[in-house]
Amino acid sequence: MDSFVLGIESSCDETAVAVVKNATQVLSSEISSQMDLHKRYGGVVPEVASRLHLDSLPFLVEDALKKSNKSFDDLTGIAVTAAPGLIGALLVGFSAAKALAFRLGLPLANVHHIEAHLYAAQLDAEPIAFPALGLVVSGGHTELYHMAGWGQYKLLASTRDDAAGEAYDKVAKLMGLGYPGGPLIEQMAKRAPEMTKNFSRARMTDKTLDFSFSGVKTAVSLELQKNPPKNEAEQNQLAAKFQNTVLREIRSRVETLLDEGQFKSLVMGGGVACNQALRDALRHETEPRDIAFRVAPPKYCSDNAAMIAGLGAYQISQGKVADLSSTALPRASFY
Ligand code: KG4
Ligand code: ZN
Repeated sequence: MDSFVLGIESSCDETAVAVVKNATQVLSSEISSQMDLHKRYGGVVPEVASRLHLDSLPFLVEDALKKSNKSFDDLTGIAVTAAPGLIGALLVGFSAAKALAFRLGLPLANVHHIEAHLYAAQLDAEPIAFPALGLVVSGGHTELYHMAGWGQYKLLASTRDDAAGEAYDKVAKLMGLGYPGGPLIEQMAKRAPEMTKNFSRARMTDKTLDFSFSGVKTAVSLELQKNPPKNEAEQNQLAAKFQNTVLREIRSRVETLLDEGQFKSLVMGGGVACNQALRDALRHETEPRDIAFRVAPPKYCSDNAAMIAGLGAYQISQGKVADLSSTALPRASFY
């Protein structure tokens, strides 16, 4: 029998609802972004985010069902982001999902947002070949995982300070650009001359593969004080120098781990995975090794509910169903 799972995402500043068939086929993926409202504050304001989720969620549920040509009666499960995120924001989506599951008598899947970012690589696509190296690059997370299968992960490396997306956003703020910084810096870096250099490496005293992005942020800040860009070309060059440094840090760790020779795929997810320069850099690592590079199109890399519905449907198929007394959590690990 086919499964039709409705997924709800409300962990940060995007309210999203999707319907996914058989855990991979996206029938609808509706998103209402609050970005323009938060922009004026230079970042997400938690209470504003919660209130806006409350406003738009009922309409998005209606739209997602309509676009998928399904009704409540066709659904076989409800999936929701249960962690991590802004707690007030999470609770809005979580309450709605619980109410729907209870009223419709359907199984509820509690989905971890970061795990779902990895699962997005499988939406409207072939199954992933395992073992895979998982790379999460989002606004709050930068991590590498050994993935033996869905639900079977081992953390290999994480960031000791800022996440990659956070570094993009903070550097954009320092440079007087807007929010979110990632897409703006990527566009500026594209216009810079090819030979733009990097900032020096973050020095780790142990042999860890952990990331550190606070050093490059400080380097940009010092450059802005000592040597402020005099024109647009120099601004672009500084953006490129920052981006090259971030990409080098990510690529070198992926290279080290792929050299171990055990992985069949590299799976990347999270908002920063939209970055074309990062995709190109990693493809240079996977192609010569004949390893599948699996990353979703940008619409499923940034926050969306299709990844939640997809992973939730998979969890339900494995009997991993949440109790109606369960709750959302601001922080939780999935490995
Ligand atoms: O995954 P996501 O939507 O939210 C979290 O789960 O955190 O990621 C948002 C992050 C922001 O920091 C944003 O600046 C970054 O992803 N981002 C990018 C690009 N598009 C979004 N970073 C670099 N290049 C991009 N093209
Ligand atoms: Zn996210």
